[in-house]
Amino acid sequence: TPLDKIRNFSIIAHIDHGKSTLADRLIQATGGLSDREMSEQVLDNMEIEKERGITIKAQTVRLAYTASDGETYTLNLMDTPGHVDFAYEVSRSLAACEGALLVVDAAQGVEAQTLANVYQSIEHDHEIVPVINKIDLPAAEPEKVKAEIEDVIGLDASEAVLASAKSGIGIAEILEAVVRKIPAPRGDATAPLKAMLVDSWYDPYLGVVILVRVIDGTLKKGQLVTFMQAGTQHLVDRVGCFRPKIEQLTDLGPGEIGFITAQIKDVAMARVGDTLTDAKRPAAEALPGFKEVQPVVFCGLFPVDANDFEKLRESISKLRLNDASFSFEMETSAALGFGFRCGFLGLLHLEIIQERLTREYDLDLITTAPSVVYQIQLTHGGGQIDLHNPADMPDPNRIESISEPWIEATIYVPDEYLGSILKLCQDRRGIQKNLTYVGGRAQATYELPLNEVVFDFYDRLKSLSKGYASFDYHQIGYREGDLVKMSILVNEEPVDALSMIVHRGTAEVRGRGMCERLKELIPRHLFKIPIQAAIGGKVIARETISAMRKDVTAKCYGGDATRKRKLLEKQKKGKAKMREYGSVSIPQEAFIAALRMG
Ligand code: GTP
Repeated sequence: TPLDKIRNFSIIAHIDHGKSTLADRLIQATGGLSDREMSEQVLDNMEIEKERGITIKAQTVRLAYTASDGETYTLNLMDTPGHVDFAYEVSRSLAACEGALLVVDAAQGVEAQTLANVYQSIEHDHEIVPVINKIDLPAAEPEKVKAEIEDVIGLDASEAVLASAKSGIGIAEILEAVVRKIPAPRGDATAPLKAMLVDSWYDPYLGVVILVRVIDGTLKKGQLVTFMQAGTQHLVDRVGCFRPKIEQLTDLGPGEIGFITAQIKDVAMARVGDTLTDAKRPAAEALPGFKEVQPVVFCGLFPVDANDFEKLRESISKLRLNDASFSFEMETSAALGFGFRCGFLGLLHLEIIQERLTREYDLDLITTAPSVVYQIQLTHGGGQIDLHNPADMPDPNRIESISEPWIEATIYVPDEYLGSILKLCQDRRGIQKNLTYVGGRAQATYELPLNEVVFDFYDRLKSLSKGYASFDYHQIGYREGDLVKMSILVNEEPVDALSMIVHRGTAEVRGRGMCERLKELIPRHLFKIPIQAAIGGKVIARETISAMRKDVTAKCYGGDATRKRKLLEKQKKGKAKMREYGSVSIPQEAFIAALRMG
């Protein structure tokens, strides 16, 4: 395709503002799929995505559109995820485009992720076409939203397209606007090949599939290419695009987006941000790379049934084939047995992986309390260690200081809920940086320790604001804090899976909460069981589970020998689901419930 007939764009939006629905409409309108093939939300092809309505993996579709000028254009539409955990995928998709459709819900207006995404888009010098979606809703206020786009973002919204992705209103106007407003890509067909590796994933039929954006030169089937960053060479065996069905091509020219396969076995060998060039006539220098993503939230995943350990290992390895952004290594816990310590981009990412393991691989799992990565400065020039697991915390007298990651959060919230949101931020050690008002809503900027956010901040935010608050964040680096390891002791024995790192100031509240919950969750025994939260040797909270009454036991275990034996057998079976803690049995559910609530 000649350069001037290509348009590369993505859709950016806050979650639920209708990005995927709009993408489907655009595919339908350009004939990418027949009506019959048009299942709902074709871009979200994983089962979970459909159920959750979240786009997890960015996808790209090539559309053929004949515009009002009579010319046929090739439109490459990149779908991007809207959730904060996947901001990184948004960023790399944006780098492959010249423009973006900014979708804003006509009833909701500009939200936290609208802003975060649009700023990224502006950073990539994109031409931005505002689309006000859901104008079919009775609560739609397109004029108000236009004003918001102008006031808050500073974009001209006078030509914003009014649309309803659901009812198919404004779709033709959007396609016209893409052709007229978004610039064609630039590139040199005669220069040595330079292509950007935008994404890679594992496909059971094709192997590792690599999504590329060609900058200069041509990428051909049969070509030997060098991955400049990795320093490896591969023979390209397929070139193609998604319409959204797969279509094989002979080559991809400058400005084009498509996929290649090159008999690569492992996604880790096709790193996002790498530059592909011709092995025989290489480009002088690589494209500026992307920064590597690092997992920020860690937790342990353990099988409920110890016999499932190998199955868990296999399942995790398979998932990892498609998602190089999560990490795992083996972990053992006295309470939970063999499992894995896993790292994720955020809490949602954690939940998605956990859910896929449960559903697609039919595994029963226990997830330990999520933890961030702490930097520990050791005494006597012992250097610095990164702590991913509270269980590995060094002895306190070897620790000079502990630092934790901080974030800057932007929160949008209707005025009436502002008070409780500010209190929430305060309780989580937040530092207010800014507070402004836009049309009945407040925009609050806070610095917060990530540790205080990973537990249940998002849930609390949503429930305190009846779902109206929106939230986005980015990391701003490490800061020293008064952090301590809090252990939970059941009948004087520390339970490793329940230990966590907390700020000294909030330790008591956390400890008391955990003890109270465990008291509810652990069944009574023949003796009384103390439950304690402790820092070092000092107990900061305590509850006691009282002993079972004698007559109850008498009743239980009384009677003739056969009945007694039956009862014992039953108990044994029941015990399979218990974990022995010294002389105390803790039901699996107790761990799960205690950990759920952080
Ligand atoms: P994520 O993929 O989760 O980021 O969300 P999204 O922005 O892709 O939103 P999605 O397309 O999944 O739409 C969210 C909800 O809004 C769905 O229930 C859609 O049916 C609905 N929706 C989308 N467009 C419209 C519209 O024009 N009008 C109305 N009334 N509802 C819409």
